[in-house]
Amino acid sequence: MTYETDFNMLAKQAAEIIREEPWYTAALSNISALIKESMADLNWAGFYLVRGEMLTVGPFQGKPACIRIPLGKGVCGTAMAKDETVVVPDVHRFPGHIACDSASQSEIVVPIHAKGKVIGVLDIDSPLLSRFSEEEKEALEALVRTIEEGVRWED
Ligand code: SME
Repeated sequence: MTYETDFNMLAKQAAEIIREEPWYTAALSNISALIKESMADLNWAGFYLVRGEMLTVGPFQGKPACIRIPLGKGVCGTAMAKDETVVVPDVHRFPGHIACDSASQSEIVVPIHAKGKVIGVLDIDSPLLSRFSEEEKEALEALVRTIEEGVRWED
C-alpha cells in the first residue's frame, strides 16, 4: 500500500508553525496535530521529552498515553539510547514494546537533538502493520531536522 502524504506541504506548514511561535509547547502541539491530520491511518502522533532520568509525554494527538518511559525501554527509549530512528513493522514482535493504545500495530520513533544531545523523540503509531515506508522515515527525519533548527526549548 502506498500513501499520498504531501511531505513538502507538511514540511512547509511545520516551518510556518515554528516561525510563528518557536516555544516548544506551542510548536510541538501544532506539529503533532499537523502530522495526525496529514498522514493516513495513524492512531497516535506526538512527542516524548527527556526530563531527568525519564522520557516524559509531551504534546500529542491520540488516546491518553504512558506518562513516563525509562531511557532504554520500549521503542522510544531504544531509539533514544541508540540515537537512531527505529521503525517497527509489528510492535508485537518488538521485545519490550510498551503498549499505550492496544490499537497500535506498527510504530516509528525519531530522536530529536539539541546542543548535541538527544532531548526527546517524535513517536508515531499506526493501527496497520508495516505502515511506515523508508521514504516516510526519511521525510520524518527531515521534519525532525526542521524542529531541531527552529524550536525554542526553554520557557
Ligand atoms: N509504544 C511506545 C510507547 C509510547 S506509545 O506508543 C504512545 C514505546 O514502546 O516506547
